[in-house]
Amino acid sequence: MIRRRVVVVAAIAAVAAAIALQAATAGAAPGAAGAGDPTFPRAGNGGYDVGHYSLRVRYRPERRRVRGTAIIEATATQALSRFNLDFRRLKVTRVSVNPAARSRVAGNDDVEAGFRRHAGELTITPAAPLEVGDAFTVIVRYRGRPHPVREPDDSRTGWLRTRDGAVVLSETRGAPSWFPCNDHPTDKATYDIRVTVPKGLKAVSNGALEGRSHRGRRTTFAWSEGSPMATYLATVAIGRFELRRSVAAGFPSWVAVDSRQRDEGAMSRTGAVLDLFGDTFGAYPFESTGGIVDSSPIFGVALETQTRPVYPHPPDSVLVAHELAHQWFGNSVSLERWRDIWLNEGFATWAEWWWVEHNGGPTVHRTFRREYETQASRHSFWDPPPAIPRPAELFAISVYVRGAMTLQALREKIGDATFMRILRRWVSEHAYGNATTDDFIALAESESGLELGEFFSVWLYEPGKPKSW
Ligand code: TRP
Ligand code: ZN
Repeated sequence: MIRRRVVVVAAIAAVAAAIALQAATAGAAPGAAGAGDPTFPRAGNGGYDVGHYSLRVRYRPERRRVRGTAIIEATATQALSRFNLDFRRLKVTRVSVNPAARSRVAGNDDVEAGFRRHAGELTITPAAPLEVGDAFTVIVRYRGRPHPVREPDDSRTGWLRTRDGAVVLSETRGAPSWFPCNDHPTDKATYDIRVTVPKGLKAVSNGALEGRSHRGRRTTFAWSEGSPMATYLATVAIGRFELRRSVAAGFPSWVAVDSRQRDEGAMSRTGAVLDLFGDTFGAYPFESTGGIVDSSPIFGVALETQTRPVYPHPPDSVLVAHELAHQWFGNSVSLERWRDIWLNEGFATWAEWWWVEHNGGPTVHRTFRREYETQASRHSFWDPPPAIPRPAELFAISVYVRGAMTLQALREKIGDATFMRILRRWVSEHAYGNATTDDFIALAESESGLELGEFFSVWLYEPGKPKSW
């Protein structure tokens, strides 16, 4: 009797739950295959938001093969019948999707999902549709030989082989070469990255080193980045490194130097750089710092990987300043679409000039004048205008230098105090978020009380050397 009533109640509850579920997932549709960025229509995806990536990667340099598990915690932003991750070439062996709420009811922790690969997209179909607002965990198991990604300017990014291991440099679309992700800066997440390598090698990544453990002939390094991070800023460097922990500007600092490189270069100036930028722009946005000096036959430029830039050779202090400036401009305040890359590179270049001025070099004003006068006739110096680069021009010299000159011209037009207030508000109002060129123009106008449409049009959008503004 009692027993039967329980069964009946349970049956009614199950039917009610099924009806409720049907209602909530009614109209469940596939998530978009791109985040809507005009420069890279297939980068990122729609329909969900990632909160955390837990990546476990094992690498065997002699065979150049990885074996990985990505545990991705996300929230559905629409009712989803299926959704995409960005992931390239590596073989996927198993995918599960576990809705947090319902798996607890069902007592089931690992619900296998269907998946399909197509041109850099991994399409996942969960056993049941996801509701709007559902928290869910995706587990992707994979393995194979990672290949770099070819960028529009013909450079290679992502997982790059080095003589004694590998290094990851992913700006702009290299991240899917080594883990499945929502590959667009508008979907930042926290990370823990655990890398297992043959004994004798080291693995360095973003954030804090939480632990190091040995098992048989392997060592596992566990790193953790607790501040939101864009996919292209996640790194791993594997090889023979000297790894040193110290303190810089009050933050724990990990510096790794390839054992074949002479020294750590100017990374010892990290504390001084962070102090200057902290005073100028506002507090350093992350909880650790440092750097990695490595070398690969196929990369020759430094990248501002979060908390721990990667340098292809021992850097001078100007390069250290540039990469550390990106921690504010690019990493904390990130672009919303790649076309606004001058918000990263122009600002980091201006900050580089600011560091030089504060270290016995020319003032930013003089650097501006020198660039303005000596480069006057070179078309490739002024074009493209910084705010409208084509895909292959994202890292053109004009994005860096004319971008920085835009800021200095603004400073000289509106005065020092107003300019510094704008920079500080930019950093605090968009901390850990995303912003656009229009957001910057609006902020500059509201803080200065001036109409600056013409000024920014001349500096950011009109081809050729700016003549009057
Ligand atoms: N953001 C880098 C800088 O100027 C430049 C860069 C762009 C880069 N894409 C890259 C470096 C890919 C290495 C790999 O600081
Ligand atoms: Zn840069």
